[in-house]
Amino acid sequence: MSAKSVHLNMVTKEFKDDQGKTSTAVSQVNLKVEPGEFVTLLGPSGCGKTTTLRMVAGFETITTGDIFFGADNVRDVSPSKRDCTMVFQSYALFPHMSVYENVAYGLRIKKMSDTDIRSKVNSIFDIMNLRDYSARMPAQLSGGQQQRVALARALVMEPGVLLFDEPLSNLDAKLRLTMRDEIRRIQQEVGITTLYVTHDQAEAMSMSDRIVVMNQGRIEQVGTPVEIYQQPATEFVAGFIGSANFLRGVVVEKKNTQHAVKYPMGILQQFFEDDQAINGEEIVTAIRPEAISLHIEAPINLNGHNIVNGMVKKSVFMGQTQEYTVEINGINLDVHASNPISERVFTVGQEVSVAIPYDAMRKVN
Ligand SMILES: Nc1ncnc2c1ncn2[C@@H]1O[C@H](COP(=O)(O)OP(=O)(O)O)[C@@H](O)[C@H]1O
Ligand SMILES: [Mg+2]
Repeated sequence: MSAKSVHLNMVTKEFKDDQGKTSTAVSQVNLKVEPGEFVTLLGPSGCGKTTTLRMVAGFETITTGDIFFGADNVRDVSPSKRDCTMVFQSYALFPHMSVYENVAYGLRIKKMSDTDIRSKVNSIFDIMNLRDYSARMPAQLSGGQQQRVALARALVMEPGVLLFDEPLSNLDAKLRLTMRDEIRRIQQEVGITTLYVTHDQAEAMSMSDRIVVMNQGRIEQVGTPVEIYQQPATEFVAGFIGSANFLRGVVVEKKNTQHAVKYPMGILQQFFEDDQAINGEEIVTAIRPEAISLHIEAPINLNGHNIVNGMVKKSVFMGQTQEYTVEINGINLDVHASNPISERVFTVGQEVSVAIPYDAMRKVN
């Protein structure tokens, strides 16, 4: 199997409705997936993930732009002639064929010899722990087992590119977690280039080398899970992945990369690159709830933090976290404190000192 790169160059897809009105499902998407890389398209329902994947597979024509597998432009290449396979949410197994025959099917179409087929199918069964199920019929398998067979059937073809469209959404929550790890393990073991589609941020975070966040047909940001979470480029990304407080303010003073910004709750210090904003500019800042800490009184040895006074409006025990809403000069901030057993828990009505690190304040506009 030789893993291929996939390169989408200014790919746009327009659909025409019955009245001839066009709508743009995917707009000017640029993306390079490296050989052996696991890249996930993540975004809300309707943002164009499936359409993008189907254009890569060749099931959907491209309105404008090009798609390359390695050096080859596959724009006009039919799906069966592209070096890629798609794993569907619905598994799409042949019900009247055994597990073995389902997996062998594509190789038989290729007119491969029985001996070669047996050797290839068995080596995939070994990687996926499926040997014991070889003689079963699909109806005798659980959902998770059927999904594994569907994956085995795709892998046995040794495609240069593997595509997944929400493959785990028909499984129950616990099985989804197991299958995530399983797909990632196998992907790394085989070293196959993978383009994966999901609307589930935890799935994307846990499996991917890089995540492509999509919104309304466009790419908002491409980055590693850590980059997407720690350095969201836009308000949409900060709000879609994890949770965030958004503050709107005006830059009042710049000192190199440290800026004083006037917010409704007061003037706060924060860092961003000098060329990102000018005095008087209106900015939007995202702050993760877990980056903010609460204290009985202003901590004295805490450098690089804004310290402001607030009042606890909400305090909810969530197990792993204690979730607060704190009001500061009429503005509400969400604050998540982890491991509340060993931490002080603040109660509604309590006055608190709120510490916000300069570098946890991220300009997102
Ligand atoms: N065959 C089609 N004809 C017309 N519009 C479509 C078609 N397929 C998808 N769309 C529209 O394109 C947009 C993106 O859809 P899709 O790619 O399925 O989103 P996602 O997979 O992210 O939920 C949606 O607005 C959807 O209604
Ligand atoms: Mg979809």
